[in-house]
Amino acid sequence: MKPKDKHIVVLKPSALQNLFLGELLSISTLTELQSLYIKYLGRNGEVNKLLSNLSRRELKERANFGREINSLKSQISEKIEKKRRDLKEIQTVNLSKEWFDATHPSIKPPLGHLHLVTYAIREITAIFEKIGFVRVSYPEADYDWYAFESLNMPKNHPARDEWETFFVDLPPFQKLGEVVLTPHTSNGQVREMERIGTPPVRMVNIAKCFRRQSDVSHSPMFHQFEGLAIDRNISIADLKGTLDYFAREYFGKERKTRIRPFHFQFTEPSFEVDVSCDLCAGSGCRMCKEGWLEIGGAGMVHPGVLKNGKIDPDKYTGFAFGWGVERVLLMKAGLNIPDLRMLYTTDLRFLEQF
Ligand code: DAH
Repeated sequence: MKPKDKHIVVLKPSALQNLFLGELLSISTLTELQSLYIKYLGRNGEVNKLLSNLSRRELKERANFGREINSLKSQISEKIEKKRRDLKEIQTVNLSKEWFDATHPSIKPPLGHLHLVTYAIREITAIFEKIGFVRVSYPEADYDWYAFESLNMPKNHPARDEWETFFVDLPPFQKLGEVVLTPHTSNGQVREMERIGTPPVRMVNIAKCFRRQSDVSHSPMFHQFEGLAIDRNISIADLKGTLDYFAREYFGKERKTRIRPFHFQFTEPSFEVDVSCDLCAGSGCRMCKEGWLEIGGAGMVHPGVLKNGKIDPDKYTGFAFGWGVERVLLMKAGLNIPDLRMLYTTDLRFLEQF
């Protein structure tokens, strides 16, 4: 070293390399890396400083020193390049994690649908509303009077046995009797007569019904729809016309109904109604009885029931019918459900199919 440069400390290339490696370790962003690059390889950087000091070295040292500096330069530049690639990779990974595209279509949350029975109730309501029937609702826990007594079923009458009833644990009311969970929608008949007063009456009462029965074709809670029409000169022909209309609207144009004599306490005459089978169109198959499927009860309102509703049976006549919602639903859809109670499970695997 020349005497005039004594005060300058010139690092050896190996020392500079150590410094550089130490600093490189703490670099975590591309900007920091760029500053490091400038510090070491920039025009006024550490490596160039070493080079500019070369002339101050003894002649014989210069060649070696020059080589060392050049190799240091390429090492630093390689290391910086490698670090740059690593940092870029990390950056893209981070970016893709945080990537949020507001225009990207979102994942739709699962959407439910109405219950099958609710669909059926809506459809049945609309069909009867078209011909002037009014949808009504009456209590689903009602007095014995409306559920039985006013319909010609006095206490201890054997006909009551068919309506295996849930009684509500309350002391009986004087005239109206005990409270029951409605075993049929016929409890709406006298209630509707009371509401309307003077006919015409045209109601469709759709409600929950309860009976002490549970097997593959019965659930303790189910639904019925009850039709009631009262006016002057209402005849069986009106009943038959209404039943045929419903069968066509609900089941399809080709479907017909037939009525068979039966017995109910609250209608005279009483009938059981059948709908022509969809599969064999009336010729008979294994799904039906000789071409017909039994659907529910109907009849001409008994004069005693009209009287209980304060309607004069000498002036007015009426027809009524009461059918199961679940029954018509399963018949229509051709749903071969092995157990009707499945409709009331909360198993989504079952419900999602519809
Ligand atoms: N209430 C009867 C039942 O639950 C069905 C019924 C039959 C209703 C004849 C009626 C009717 O209105 O006229 O089995």
